[in-house]
Amino acid sequence: MSPDPLTPYGNRPMVTPIVNAVNYEYASFEVLRQITDGEIEGYTYHRDDNPTVRAVEHKMAALENAEDCVICTSGMAACTMVYLTFLHAGDHMVIFHDTYGANYKVSLILERLGVNITWIDADRAGDIEAELRPNTRMIFLETPSNPLCKVIDIGAVRSAADKVGAMVVADNTFATPYHQNPLALGAHLVIHSATKALGGHNDIMAGVIAGSKQHYNELWFTRQAIGTTLDAQSAFLLARGLKTFDIRAQTMSASAQAVAEYLEGHPKVPRIFYPGLMSHPGHGVAVRQMHHGFGGMLAFDVGDNQEDAKRFILNLKLIYHAVSLGATESLICIPYLTTMLYLPPERRICFGVRENTVRLSLGIEPTGRILEDLDQALACT
Ligand SMILES: Cc1ncc(COP(=O)(O)O)c(C=O)c1O
Repeated sequence: MSPDPLTPYGNRPMVTPIVNAVNYEYASFEVLRQITDGEIEGYTYHRDDNPTVRAVEHKMAALENAEDCVICTSGMAACTMVYLTFLHAGDHMVIFHDTYGANYKVSLILERLGVNITWIDADRAGDIEAELRPNTRMIFLETPSNPLCKVIDIGAVRSAADKVGAMVVADNTFATPYHQNPLALGAHLVIHSATKALGGHNDIMAGVIAGSKQHYNELWFTRQAIGTTLDAQSAFLLARGLKTFDIRAQTMSASAQAVAEYLEGHPKVPRIFYPGLMSHPGHGVAVRQMHHGFGGMLAFDVGDNQEDAKRFILNLKLIYHAVSLGATESLICIPYLTTMLYLPPERRICFGVRENTVRLSLGIEPTGRILEDLDQALACT
């Protein structure tokens, strides 16, 4: 018999092969039965599973110390799969205003399907028990939050959730698994937009949901039903991004800490939000639940109004005016005009964001060059 072309004589490729096949020739009816009965891991059709995707799911599960992980087509696909899998008509969910803007749009769909939703400000996370009802099935949070980097005590939310049997879901995109592991802190599920620091190069969209094997099975059912399986090429790029993830996350958070310290007290920066600053109201909790630093994301106000913030951004030379985050390049945007466009204007400002608030995602450029760029642009503002 000729050797397997992928692993001839046992030598294995150093990188995960990209399997573009949509369907697979069955070896036998018995193998088909074992795969479809879940007795063995195997492949029949891309919407069910794909070996390149499965390989990166194992890597992501390990990064979050989860039993298993489902990878899908985007961060919002991940959020939506979690809602569709674990919420039913008549259930109640508590979600924080301080979550990525598109969750608001999804919440409108969920309400149409009969889910009751309460929105609260992350500053009020300590009072969450008052918002819980006997039918509260889910608490959805982000910490540090997008864009104001508010910090929520995941363990405290879990204690409250246990009183009504609700599940706690944490979007860990801002923190990344390098700095925080929500499952170890009490969350039942952790979500990532892998479009961000995990992929890291502005060239893929992907979502991650990690948790128990039971959660995996239920989420797999949803993904198989609705067809949000990631393509193999993107899964390969995600696996490649993960190879440099630790070192990128370390560099980004070191720069973010230096930038936050530089901006704090700058006369043209009236407010700054970074959990690594002692002045940040969530610093104590962040010290307890984050490690190796506080992440590569920060937000700050520039001058007095939106025109000041725009002038500052237009004067930047190194930092890119673009949405998204966690990329090799530093990225800056005005959330009021971009990531929060999904929200009606009054909702954009109700939890602390202002029209001159900017969100900065540190890249891996030398810190000195980033500081120089910020300094010269603030001087022109
Ligand atoms: C914290 C957070 N969660 C989820 C998402 C959605 O991710 P995606 O754009 O991959 O759908 C984003 C996107 O910016 C985000 O910042």
